[in-house]
Amino acid sequence: MSDRTAQPIGVFDSGIGGLTVVRSLLRHLPHENIVYFGDTARVPYGSKSPQVVREYTLQDAEVLLRYDVKMIVVACNTVSAVALDVVQRRAGVNIPVVGVIAPGAAAAASATRNKRIGIIGTQGTIASNSYNNAIRAIDPAIEVFGQACPLFVPLAEEGWTEHKATEMIAREYLFPLVQHKVDTVVLACTHYPILKDVIAKAVPHTVQLIDSGEATGAPVLGLLDSTGLRNPSTLVPNLQFFVSDIPFKFAEVGERFLGGRLGRVQRISGLG
Ligand code: DGL
Repeated sequence: MSDRTAQPIGVFDSGIGGLTVVRSLLRHLPHENIVYFGDTARVPYGSKSPQVVREYTLQDAEVLLRYDVKMIVVACNTVSAVALDVVQRRAGVNIPVVGVIAPGAAAAASATRNKRIGIIGTQGTIASNSYNNAIRAIDPAIEVFGQACPLFVPLAEEGWTEHKATEMIAREYLFPLVQHKVDTVVLACTHYPILKDVIAKAVPHTVQLIDSGEATGAPVLGLLDSTGLRNPSTLVPNLQFFVSDIPFKFAEVGERFLGGRLGRVQRISGLG
């Protein structure tokens, strides 16, 4: 079999948010080449029907496959919740696919002490019940409470991470979870790590926040090792960023999400 270790890992998201997942991957895997695709022309996915998200997802996977990726990481929680199987089927047996829900659910299940977990995410992710199902498959005694927080995505993109309006909205969204006495909250959306401080202020300080994107780094590393796909290189990796709309805003806002320099962002054509 040919050596595929230098091939890139493909990462995709509905837009810019998946860069928080790339940040986590780079921490765990600093030498892996990465191709990122953000479907900025059609974001948000979180308010769309599962049927539409599944249709877009197949096209997103096709984009990554153009770049001969060796693995696909589905950074988007909404896609991981309603369309992971679409990616798995398209990728086939030779290209492993990792979503963010199983790692986030596993991290939350091992973090909770009182067996009460809150999930915050897009409407699509919460309506899918996928975190509930994944957590309860690990431990059926855990109670899971979901809360959609649709305003968090634009607030994170505006950079309103310390704004009074964001604090008020966070308190409003998180209040039902506080009433349910959860001791763990999963940040089940790519954008929420950007708002982590403001979310932390809206819950008792004993509540643990689990970043599903951050939790995904370790399983990706494990899978690369177990499949023999890990890149042995110690060189600076090649990171390529592609979007489906003009790259201007992505390039500007993206560095905050990635936590570092983005470099060149290119627009792809021929989506769908
Ligand atoms: N990337 C999406 C997610 O993690 C958030 C943005 C959207 O709604 O598309 O669910």
